[in-house]
Amino acid sequence: MQKNCAKNTNTKITNPIKHIIQNKAVFNDFKPDLKIVSPGRINLIGEHTDYNNGFVLPTAIDKNIYFYFKKNGSPTKCNIKSKSYDVVLELDLDAVKPSETEWENYVLGVIHELKKITTKIEGFDCLIDSDLPIGAGISSSASLECGMAVGLNSLFNLGQSLETLIKLSRAAEHNYVGTKCGIMDQFAVVMSKKDHVILLDCESLDYELIPIDISPYQFLLLNTNVSHNLASSEYNNRRMECEEGLKIIQKKHPDINSLRHVTLEILEEFRANMDSVIYNRCHYVINENSRVIAAAEHLKAGDLEAFGTLMYQSHDGLENDYEVSCDELDFLVKYSKSNEHILGSRMMGGGFGGCTINLIHKNAVAPYVKEVSEAYKATFGIDLTPIVVNPSGGTSALLN
Ligand code: GLA
Repeated sequence: MQKNCAKNTNTKITNPIKHIIQNKAVFNDFKPDLKIVSPGRINLIGEHTDYNNGFVLPTAIDKNIYFYFKKNGSPTKCNIKSKSYDVVLELDLDAVKPSETEWENYVLGVIHELKKITTKIEGFDCLIDSDLPIGAGISSSASLECGMAVGLNSLFNLGQSLETLIKLSRAAEHNYVGTKCGIMDQFAVVMSKKDHVILLDCESLDYELIPIDISPYQFLLLNTNVSHNLASSEYNNRRMECEEGLKIIQKKHPDINSLRHVTLEILEEFRANMDSVIYNRCHYVINENSRVIAAAEHLKAGDLEAFGTLMYQSHDGLENDYEVSCDELDFLVKYSKSNEHILGSRMMGGGFGGCTINLIHKNAVAPYVKEVSEAYKATFGIDLTPIVVNPSGGTSALLN
């Protein structure tokens, strides 16, 4: 998965895990005890605000990972088959360690975190299937983590709350993958409701489900199909830069515990003795938080034009102040501005690749996709992948 997922290079890997790239008898005529569906997510606005205790406006989408679980009677042996990679991962619950293979770390990381709080997990088999594009910045990793966590919680009656499962899925990403991500992806993947978006306060985890009806408009993702190497290291750097800015502010305002509580006026007091890069990072975060609140109000009022304007402003901040965009994303956002049927467009997720999210009139989707794909190919020599998405429900049991 290309997302902001660095391999945990600090961990010495002594891998007890076997991979079998062939069919394993256990998955022939497989009759699961439990089926779980876990979605990807989009974020309408509020990027890089989650780890600054700020606000985000995400929702799950109608693209999913499917999990088919079965207890296998062994105390510790597990088989996990990824259909996408055509690999069976064999593991022993008593010897879970980080792997060299990235997707496995999402699964192993969750098992590792669950084992810290329960002894009730025993041997199981799990088949994983997916129609969620991998590496497009729509949280296939959080979907995988949360589907595993919710599934094992249910299979073994662990009785853990959704909030615990969300937090331990994030911990899996911190500890097994190495990205110090915020809470947005896991929260959206688990807590979303069909035809709603979540206005989430990442400090308190209070949230509001806002009904969304954007017809005749539609969300269209355009996957750049690039993921620049900077993604994981720069993600963690941005986090540190924000912390650095906060520390400077705390010298005078010790009671302020995150950028979320810093106003532009307060930031201005420090402009002279703050490195301009640090100032710009803080400036972006403060503005983006305000945009999320305003955007939620516009959505409730049905003012999609005003909403779209904020999307463009968000991209501008991500490109210039926060510097997490790239040429391919900037090209797509700029291109969208010449199309009267598009109300807003911006890069989505961690940045340095992945998708733009576009608010576009339904009737304009097909001609626009054709036109922008040609222009993109002519400029970068890369195929663009369009993904039409709709706000959907979170991780849950699949009944049929
Ligand atoms: C990634 C992280 C999230 C969030 C976004 C940027 O998706 O996993 O926690 O920080 O980037 O908004």
